[in-house]
Amino acid sequence: MSRIVYVNGDYVPEEEAKISVFDRGFLFADGVYEVTSVLEGKLVDFEGHAKRLERSLAELEMPAPCTMDELLEIHRELVARNEVTEGMVYLQVTRGAADRDFAYPAEPVPSLVLFTQTKTLADAPAVQSGIKVISIEDARWGRRDIKTVQLLYPSMGKMMAKAAGVDDAWMVEDGAVTEGTSNNAYIVTQEGTIVTRHLGTEILHGITRAAVLRFAREAQMKVEERPFTIEEAQNAREAFITSASTFVMPVVEVDGAQVGEGTPGPVALRLREIYLEESRAKAV
Ligand code: PDD
Repeated sequence: MSRIVYVNGDYVPEEEAKISVFDRGFLFADGVYEVTSVLEGKLVDFEGHAKRLERSLAELEMPAPCTMDELLEIHRELVARNEVTEGMVYLQVTRGAADRDFAYPAEPVPSLVLFTQTKTLADAPAVQSGIKVISIEDARWGRRDIKTVQLLYPSMGKMMAKAAGVDDAWMVEDGAVTEGTSNNAYIVTQEGTIVTRHLGTEILHGITRAAVLRFAREAQMKVEERPFTIEEAQNAREAFITSASTFVMPVVEVDGAQVGEGTPGPVALRLREIYLEESRAKAV
């Protein structure tokens, strides 16, 4: 059975969904996106994702395709039509179709596409073993705080990880970890402090990151937002990543070196538990 996707006002079977070859998302990666998780048929932290979308659009002077209330309705409609109980809603806004020109069109008509993917999230098997990562150079552009659809380098990073027989790559710039290919990166020091890179233009301001740091502080855990190195990660007690599609996922190996006991650590597992509990309670 084919999925129903949303394209510029219409709910259509995926085979019938069409976008112009002149769409600037296709020609220039001139577009932004959001990924919102679905638990028990409800959206996790929709408001956070909607706010970040507004910010990404504003940073690129791209008009919003509709109001954020309308976006919520489209998300809900798509989840219902595709009977998604657990998985993701992907949303993409581009500057739309226009004659090919590097300069933005004067009166852009944005394209809006949404689709769903069913996925096991809460009981993801990888949580049991934890994931392994390698480090790679961060060769992305300088505005990683804008959630653009320029995802080729992260795709290359995933392929480098695959070739190395591991699950993901952590990107390194000027000696410090920025983030994972599609997630934020953390360590727990031998003293028990949770360390993750501070917010700036070098990383995406993760919606899961904001929630997890809030829960950590509420649980009296010590948090430091600062750069850390691969060596620090290898000598840490624990490591983990966060994203809308993995929640809190333990990392047990960095560049071939075991982290801590080489098994998912208690801080990561506790934060995952709190995150799931809170997300289920507050999902819309
Ligand atoms: N990726 N950093 C990068 C580079 C990301 O692509 C993502 C999310 C995150 C985590 O952000 P959040 O907690 O808001 O999901 C950090 C999504 C899941 C993706 O591209 O599929």
